[in-house]
Parts: sequence; structure tokens; C-alpha cells
Amino acid sequence: MEREKFSSRLGFILISAGCAIGLGNVWRFPYITGKYGGAAFVLIYLFFLIVMGLPIMVMEFAVGRASQKSIATSFNVLEKKGSKWHIYRYFGMAGNYLLMMFYTTIGGWMLAYFVKMIKGDFKGLDAAGVEQAFGSLTTDLGTMLFWMLLVVVIGFAICSLGLQSGVERITKGMMVILLLLMIVLAVNSCLLPGGTEGLEFYLKPDFGKLTEYGLSEVIFAAMGQAFFTLSLGIGALAVFGSYIGKERKLTGEAVNILVLDTFVALTAGLIIFPACSAFGVDPGEGPGLVFVTLPNVFNNMKGGRFWGSLFFLFMTFAALSTIIAVFQNIISFAQDLWNWSLKKAVLINGAAIAILSLPCIFGMTIWSDFSILGKSILDFEDFLVSNNMLPLGSLVYLLFCVTRYGWGWKNFLKEANTGEGISFPKKIKVYLTFILPIIVLYIFVQGYISLFKSL
Ligand code: TRP
Repeated sequence: MEREKFSSRLGFILISAGCAIGLGNVWRFPYITGKYGGAAFVLIYLFFLIVMGLPIMVMEFAVGRASQKSIATSFNVLEKKGSKWHIYRYFGMAGNYLLMMFYTTIGGWMLAYFVKMIKGDFKGLDAAGVEQAFGSLTTDLGTMLFWMLLVVVIGFAICSLGLQSGVERITKGMMVILLLLMIVLAVNSCLLPGGTEGLEFYLKPDFGKLTEYGLSEVIFAAMGQAFFTLSLGIGALAVFGSYIGKERKLTGEAVNILVLDTFVALTAGLIIFPACSAFGVDPGEGPGLVFVTLPNVFNNMKGGRFWGSLFFLFMTFAALSTIIAVFQNIISFAQDLWNWSLKKAVLINGAAIAILSLPCIFGMTIWSDFSILGKSILDFEDFLVSNNMLPLGSLVYLLFCVTRYGWGWKNFLKEANTGEGISFPKKIKVYLTFILPIIVLYIFVQGYISLFKSL
């Protein structure tokens, strides 16, 4: 069967960007930036996006486009006979499922908050009341199940319409609305009286703050965020390389996606930080930042219900575009491995993801006593993906592309540089072969060092 392709280049860029732009940008980036002191952290993050994220993104796309497959069989197609790179596919596939096992739940919270905002549920609540509302959502089994299942059904329903008429058409629409919404929200936030202080925190680097946490912890957080936000390491982007033609060089496409992703993350900060200072909210609040602090902000703002609804709509779109992209990837595994029909792949994976998403919710409710390595189930799943699969997987893609034991530098370069646009710089081979792998490995090791320190 001929592989279905995207109908346009814009479709490819917006869907890859939709995969990259997600909770990582609108939820994780702001709270981590808040925690690590603002602007100085942002600069370090940008540095790693470019020197580490960009080349690995090009490599994922190259493997996808050259093999015309998802991670389920891409290494089998490209590796030298007798080598074992394809074993990574099991980890890569598992990574996609694992990511969704907690992502659907948080996506469900976003959707729930959007509906709550429209209904005006937060009206008249004081700060304690808003905090309690989040607390009762995240301990209520039935409600969380409902929103999680709704997210799973919406995601798979869209994928079931097909690559072009489902995934491409709908994600394109959502991304355009998302980008417009963001700009409106950011302008609104920056004009708030009292917002300047937040802007300063966010945009004026104070390197003294870095030493508060220790430079190595801050660098580690920035690197981890760079991987997560770009969706690297588990073939989540690679599959989209398999849906495009050879008209464009891959580096230029990767730059486009990186710019869009960064634009959304930075703009999310422009929405959140001025609002924090305008309404006396601590930006270092942590993971609850958007759920616990922002409804207060909207409560105090003129037209807050309207702006709040738009804000959580925007959050929901960001989460959904990622969920749809990863579902598409998951569906393509079964299609590549066993030639399943779209319908069969959707139904079976839909049921599988719904069931696999349960432990995360149970971990917050009926299994709340249970912990692994001192972490809740949600945190443990996140740890497995973010601290293990992403760095190790990125290392696999990297070594596969630069060493002669894998696909090899020449093959990689040829694929990346087929078509028009910006070429991949040949000169950085030494950096890619000897320095970047060490940086990536460092992230992996550091993850375990912090884990054991925290035990
Ligand atoms: N990039 C997404 C976000 O920012 C998360 C994500 C989607 C992801 N697919 C991935 C992260 C694959 C790592 C690997 O929310």
C-alpha cells in the first residue's frame, strides 16, 4: 500500500510543530522558568535548544524520510545487515505509549478547566478556594476518568479520519487558532497594570539567581526541557519525516519547527509572568502554576471569565495537537509492523491507551499510598520518559547517524541535504561525534544523581 502523504508543506510543518508544542511549552516551561529564576534560565534553555535539539531533530526527520517508516521498522530498513539498532524500536514504541499514559490525564485537566472557566465555576472563590478546586479535581476518580476518556476519544476520532483529512486538517486549524489566541492573550497580559515587574523577572537576566540552585542543576533542567519540548528521542517526529517528499532540505524544516515551538513557549511566559506580578502570585509556585494561580488572576481581571476561557482553550489545543500527533505515531506502528487497517489500529490502540492511562489516575486516587522510588505514578512515568527514553533515544539517533556502525554520516548527510533550503553544516561532525554524545549522556546520568539525592 502506498504511504499516505501530507497534502502540503505547511501541513507538515504545523503538525510537527503541533507535536512539539504541547504541555511542555504552555505548562512545563513557565513553571520551570519560574522555579529557576526567570531570564537567565531562558537563555541557557535557548542555547541547548540550538546546539543540542536542532541537530537531533534533523536526524529524526532524516531517519523517517529515508526509511519511509515509523520507529517500529525504520532502523530495520536503514541499518547494516547483522547490526542490532532495530532493538531500540521496542523502547521507542514503549516511550510513545508511556508518554501518553500521563499526558492524556493532564490534557483532561486542561479540557476540564476550559469548561469550568466557561461555566464560571471559579467566580467568587478566594485563593484558598481555587486551590481547593484543583485539589478536588486531582483527587476525584470519576471526574478525572471522564475527562481523560474524552481526550482519548477525541484524539483517536480525529486520527480515524485519516492522515490528510483528520490529522492534517484539524491540527492545522487548531495551530492557527492557537497562534492567534496566544498573541491576543500576551498583549492583554503585558498591558496589565503591575505587569512590568513580571516582565522584568522573565526577560532581564539575573545570573546571580543561577547559583541559588547550583549551576549544574539549572543546566540539567534546561537540557531536559529542551528535549521534552522538541519531542526528541522516541521517533515522535521521525514519523512525520516519512510523510513528506524530498523537495526540501531537512535542516530548514527543523528550524521552522524550532522557531514555532520557541515562539509558543516564550509567548506563554509573556502571558503568565506579567499576570503573576500584577496579581501578586509567586511565579515559582511549581507544577500548579497554571491551575492554582491563574484562575485567581482571571478572577481579579476585568473580563476574566472570557480571558480565562480563551487561555484554557489555548492550553487544550496545545495538549490535543500533541496527543493527536503521538496517537498518529502509535497507529503507524501497527500499520508498519502488521499492515493493520486504520480502523483496526484506531480501535485497538484507543482501547489500549484508555486502559494504560488508568494507573496514572489511580495513583492520585485509590492507589495514592503507592509510590515507586519515592515518586507517584505520574511522576514515575514522567521520569521514565523524560529522564531515560528521551536522552537515551536521542543518543541512539545521534550515533546511528554519525558513526559508520550505524546508518553512517554520508547517508545521513545525503538524506538531510536532499532538496532545497538550508544545508546541514558538514563541519560540525567532530562536535556531533565526540562532544554531543557526552552532553546527552550527562543528562541521563544527572537524572539518576538527582533521583538518588532526593530519596
Ligand atoms: N513536546 C511535547 C510537549 O512539549 C511533548 C511530547 C510529545 C514529547 N511527543 C513527545 C516529548 C515525544 C518527548 C518525546 O508537550
